[in-house]
Amino acid sequence: MKKFSIIILVFALSMSAACGKGERSDTKIKLEDVADFVLEVEDGRDVKILQLTDIQIIDSAQRRYDSRLGKWAIENWATDKIEERAWRFTREAVEKAQPDLIVLSGDNVYGEFDDAGTSLQALVAEIDGYGIPWTFTFGNHDNETVKGIEWTCEQYMNADHCIFTRGDINNVDGNGNFNIAVMQGGKLTEIIWLMDSNGKTSGDREQNLFHEEGLRVNQITWFTERSEKLKEYNGGVSPKNIGFFHHPMRAAGEAAVPYGYNSAKHEIGENKSFKTVIIPENDEGAFGAMHVDPNTYVDNEFYFHNLLKTYACEGWFFGHEHQNNASAFYEGVRYTYGLKASQYDAYVKGEVGGTLITVGEGKMKVRHLYTDLPD
Ligand SMILES: [Fe+2]
Repeated sequence: MKKFSIIILVFALSMSAACGKGERSDTKIKLEDVADFVLEVEDGRDVKILQLTDIQIIDSAQRRYDSRLGKWAIENWATDKIEERAWRFTREAVEKAQPDLIVLSGDNVYGEFDDAGTSLQALVAEIDGYGIPWTFTFGNHDNETVKGIEWTCEQYMNADHCIFTRGDINNVDGNGNFNIAVMQGGKLTEIIWLMDSNGKTSGDREQNLFHEEGLRVNQITWFTERSEKLKEYNGGVSPKNIGFFHHPMRAAGEAAVPYGYNSAKHEIGENKSFKTVIIPENDEGAFGAMHVDPNTYVDNEFYFHNLLKTYACEGWFFGHEHQNNASAFYEGVRYTYGLKASQYDAYVKGEVGGTLITVGEGKMKVRHLYTDLPD
């Protein structure tokens, strides 16, 4: 059991003894039947979650062949640049947010440049060193390393404050489909979903890695069954919930249409010609920017989006598109590209930092914490 001063991570699936507190007397469903982990937060206050996305550490010294990177990249993404390129931003965001939970939403490490595993170890040491519970999803690049999925997961799971399970890997595709129940004063106030949106550079069924981007059928079945049980656990009403995976959903594109988003690639908007979208902060609660038209969206048929509507999801959070950080609503669900958390790979000057998500007993609030540090 991992203990914290304010928050106690109570159990993993198998440890049912610690879960009596979350049971409801009017139902047979227990909390451990519907949640993989519990995050206890004192009641009467908001719960703060900090999303740090696409940290994407690159260690140019580990390039697989010389011509892979140019001179600028070799110098600027050298092993000793990690403080300047990443940690000063992640630390600043953590200091500003004072979060109860940190979520890394994929491409945490650029695995192609980490066959020795040292960048992942540096990441785990840095984030765990904040002494705050944290969790993560995988992106397309994390599992490019030759170290393999088991070694990679072990590094995360051995960290004192990291909350993670690969999930039911025999029945559910991807690595890291699970959820966290936030409990305040014995009451379930939020469910946090972590899912694997796949899209790995190289698929490898043996490692539960799939090349095609998007949720697979058995993942959607898992989400639906869990959501139904959660509703039953919660007295017939779906609990407030939010979620994270790496790739943006088509619904996030639709959410930006009222602010001028057009795309020929995705047949979105009236004139179909993409130009940077800047969303002025407004009464609807939308904000942020789209500097690039995403290459691909997941959930193009809106199937998962409709499930999110059905189960009272407050918002879903992505990364992947480093230059996008729009946050807007589509049919009542807030879709947010997290603010890129480092200066590795592509980024927009000044649009680096973290995304603060406030949940719990009150309605969800979201805002970006833009860096104040010099470029
Ligand atoms: Fe990505």
